[in-house]
Amino acid sequence: MKDFKNVMIFDHPLIRHKVAILRNKNTGMKEFRELIEEITTIMAYEVLKEVPTKEIEVETPLEKCMQTEIVEKSIALVPILRAGLGMVNGIHTLLPTAKVGHIGMYRDEVTMQPKEYYCKLPDGIEHMKVIVLDPMLATGGSASAAISYLEKIGCKDITLMSVIAAPVGVEKIASEHPNLKLFVSTLDRELNEHCYILPGLGDAGDRLYGTK
Ligand code: PRP
Ligand code: URA
Repeated sequence: MKDFKNVMIFDHPLIRHKVAILRNKNTGMKEFRELIEEITTIMAYEVLKEVPTKEIEVETPLEKCMQTEIVEKSIALVPILRAGLGMVNGIHTLLPTAKVGHIGMYRDEVTMQPKEYYCKLPDGIEHMKVIVLDPMLATGGSASAAISYLEKIGCKDITLMSVIAAPVGVEKIASEHPNLKLFVSTLDRELNEHCYILPGLGDAGDRLYGTK
């Protein structure tokens, strides 16, 4: 795959270890949910490096000093339903004040085209740092449609976090949204004829919520 300047693929033994368990078809729903959250939290340390901060004065037991804190109401998480919901707590653990907007999107099983069925976003999202969450980036159709909508309503600082991505999905996002920052925990080989990621982990929504 081509090198894209705004794409970061993690290469970390802790993530590799957790992804191996996530992929295993015998991993149950509870552990699957916990792993998605844990991987999101590990990724968040890097993703949140550029959050807006401000200077504040803090008094220690010894003296006053200037410190930084994250600007409140400056971050919006936007999970793509359903599977993106599984990533929200992974960031809320670190940043409980992040607002959450929801975009409901599913892939039509025949055409593989994304269909939007729900959208509710925080007021003023266009002024926030927006972090779109979806564990699976396959063709890239769902994420690209969600990001295009956010761009259309004026969001300028958009990041996408995915746990597993196929090269074709990364290329689509990077070429259609050159200003976006994309963080992927693991880059997989390819898509199968049904546009599932190989080796992948199956259907993330079904494994998170036990629907199949
Ligand atoms: C999955 C996944 C992504 C999308 C990725 O959602 O959570 O949103 O597929 O595929 P794409 O990159 O080819 O668009 P799905 O449509 O299965 O809906 P669900 O999360 O409700 O199960
Ligand atoms: N959506 C999933 O949940 N898994 C895939 O492999 C592709 C799309």
